[in-house]
Order: sequence, then structure tokens, then C-alpha cells
Amino acid sequence: MSLSIGIHDLSIATGEFVLPHTALAAHNGTDIGKYHVGIGQESMSVTAADEDIVTLAATAAAPLIARHGTDRIRTLVLATESSIDQAKAAGIYVHSLIGLPSATRVVELKQACYGATAALQFAVGLVRRDPAQQVLVIASDVSRYDLDSPGEATQGAAAVAMLVGVDPALVRIEDPSGLYTADVMDFWRPNYRDTALVDGQESVGAYLQAVEGTWKDYTEQGGRTLEEFAAFCYHQPFTKMAYKAHRHLLNYCGRDTDPDTVTAALGETTAYNRVIGNSYTASVYLALAALLDQADDLTGKSVGFLSYGSGSVAEFFAGTVVAGYRDHLRTDAHREAITRRTEVGYDAYRALHEHRLPADGGDHATPAQTTGPYRLAGISGHKRLYATR
Ligand code: HMG
Repeated sequence: MSLSIGIHDLSIATGEFVLPHTALAAHNGTDIGKYHVGIGQESMSVTAADEDIVTLAATAAAPLIARHGTDRIRTLVLATESSIDQAKAAGIYVHSLIGLPSATRVVELKQACYGATAALQFAVGLVRRDPAQQVLVIASDVSRYDLDSPGEATQGAAAVAMLVGVDPALVRIEDPSGLYTADVMDFWRPNYRDTALVDGQESVGAYLQAVEGTWKDYTEQGGRTLEEFAAFCYHQPFTKMAYKAHRHLLNYCGRDTDPDTVTAALGETTAYNRVIGNSYTASVYLALAALLDQADDLTGKSVGFLSYGSGSVAEFFAGTVVAGYRDHLRTDAHREAITRRTEVGYDAYRALHEHRLPADGGDHATPAQTTGPYRLAGISGHKRLYATR
């Protein structure tokens, strides 16, 4: 009998601050309809000067450790495209902050927003090899485009931590996967840049092309039919993108794109991304969190996942929601992570956007801003110093 492997627990975290799109629109003279309706975004998370992908990741993962302990975790994979070091894996700082044992394998994965899906699939493989083990998969990103660029409205920050193991309490991950890779320059960030470069319209087209490509392969690999899915979790750089993608898929499959059908398939997946913004690797799993937290009983139902990472790699796969999943959700904590954010005005957001850690190798404390459990306390001799509050 084949093993049931999947997401046993899931927890989200986001930044200390939030910028409403009304403030951005007032600054740049954009009609707010473009943000609220045109791209489907209301606000974006903004990280404090003493937050980064490590503090977000540790904040998301700590509740999993509190509930399940560390005994079975032998691998931590952290996926990010906003890495803090070219050599050392950010997950090693997280490993230390959340108290994982030394007998742990830690590695960082990158392929734009797709990285966490690769991590999840690799985790399934590791668990299949040794079902006694659990793998901690963390997606953590701070999305940053240039100020006053079209991408600015699609920034955000969040982490999602997932514990992957046998007999999962939330979602069983199924074979097969549909895969698609194409060498496109729709979005990238050279090592010497802090902000991403993007060809916005090209990126939307590349995403839609990848939807077709993954679905074609998924079908050829013997996957489920469209009608078997109760909902679809898409990568959501902005929530309207999920609607564009699903309509594209329905058209490609020769199905009706009736708005009610599309909303029924996606409507419960967008609530967190709409107010958090693009969290890159975490985005598709924030869609899952919102779906599980909000939808009517999904027991036994199949959910389709479409993970897209610019450059580009995409994967379509299915998950089945497990009986009793509601007893294991963290809905209140997820809502709290979002509602606890402090609203900032445009000028404060701009100052945070422009904040950089000094690169002179000296001793520098970071301003104490976050009220979260972990903070980046400073930098000394080019070494990041983290603290638990
Ligand atoms: P833009 O040029 O600012 O906006 O770019 P636009 O002119 O394309 O307008 C956007 C939508 O708003 C349009 O609707 C307008 O009609 C509508 P659409 O034609 O798309 O349906 N609109 C209005 N609606 C209501 N009332 C109004 C109004 N005015 C206009 N008054 C863009 C938008 C998303 C391209 C830009 O923000 C950008 O470049 N973002 C970054 C790139 C991105 O998010 N790409 C998505 C696909 S690639 C991806 O998902 C990967 C990524 O996450 C990175 C990774 O993988 O690592 C980005």
C-alpha cells in the first residue's frame, strides 16, 4: 500500500508593518480602483528594520516546534529568493533560533517563487525514503521592487512553515506532478541588486504560458480532470493573477469561464494574499492557508496547486484534504499575524524601503522596531546577530 505523505501542520508569519494601497495611490496619483480591482490588492506587509527572512521564518516555524517537538525532524529546507548570504543557508540561523538538534540537514533552495514547491516535493521524497522522519519546509521572502516602479504595488513579505510527514493531518500530496520550464527573462535579481527587475507584461504572459505547460504535462502524466478539484491555489503575485490564470486554464481546456465558477474555485484562496501582497515562495501556501481557514468543510476534496517561479519553472499538483483537518488549523493565529500589523504611512514605508544594513564590517545595532518573537539585533564584522525576545 502506498504511503500517505503530506502537510501535517502549517503556520504563517508576516511583517510588523502594513502599508494600505490607498496611501500608495495617494502618493503616486493612481486611481485606487487600479489597485483594489485591477490587481486585487488592498495592502502590503512591510518588514521592520530588525526583521528579515530569518526572523519571519523562525516566527512561522516556532509554533510547529511547540506543538510537535523536534524529535522526528531531520531536515530543514528553507526556500527563498531574498537570501541574506551567498554561501550560508538562512535556515541555519532558523535552526538555531527554534532549537533544532545538531543531527539535522539544513539547506536553502532557490528558483524564484517556485522554490518552496521544490522543497515540498523533495520533502515528500525524503519522507518516502524514511517514513519515521519529518521535514520542516519553510518559504520566507521579502518582496521588493524599485520605489515608484509599476512593481511597487505588488510588494509584500511573509513566511509559511510546513511540517511534512506520513499520515498528514492537513493535506495529502499526490502524484503525479505537471512540470514546465522555460528560459525567459520576465523577472530576475542579479546578485548586485537589492530590488528585483521585472518586465511586468512579459511576466504575466510567461505565467499564463506556464499554466498551459504544466497542465498539459499533468494531464499526460495521468492527473485528475479539472472537475475533480474543489479549489485551486495559484501563486498570487497579486490576487487578480489567480483569476487570470484560472480563466486561462479553463479556456485552454475548452471550459466555460463563467465568473461564478471561477470565484467558487478561487474565492477562498485570496484573503491573505490580498492584504499581505506578494510573498514570493510563500504565496501559493498562503493561498492554501486561507482556503483551509475559511472554506466550508473540504474533507476528502482535492485541491489543485499551481506554483510559478519567474525565469521560469512551474509545477501543477494535487493535494487531498484529510478528515479531521479542522482540528489542526491555526486560523486564529493566522488572523492575528495579519491584524497585529501596525499601519504605516507612505513616508515611513519609504524610509523602511530605503533602510539597508551597513556593509562596512563595523558593529551596528538595528533599530528596535519589531514586536515579534525574533529580531535581527544587529550586524558585527559582517555577521548577522539574531535575538529572541
Ligand atoms: P501596470 O502597468 O502597473 O498595470 O502593471 P496595468 O496597466 O497592466 O493595469 C493592471 C490592471 O488594472 C489592468 O487590468 C487594468 O485594466 C486595471 P487587466 O487588463 O490586467 O485585467 N486597471 C483598473 N481597474 C479598475 N479601475 C481602474 C484601473 N486602472 C487600471 N481605475 C503589473 C501591473 C502587475 C504588471 C505590475 O504591478 C508589475 O510589474 N508587477 C510585478 C510583476 C508581477 O507581479 N508579475 C506577475 C506574473 S510573474 C510572477 O508571478 C512571478 C513573481 O512573483 C516573481 C517570482 O517568481 O519570483 C513576480
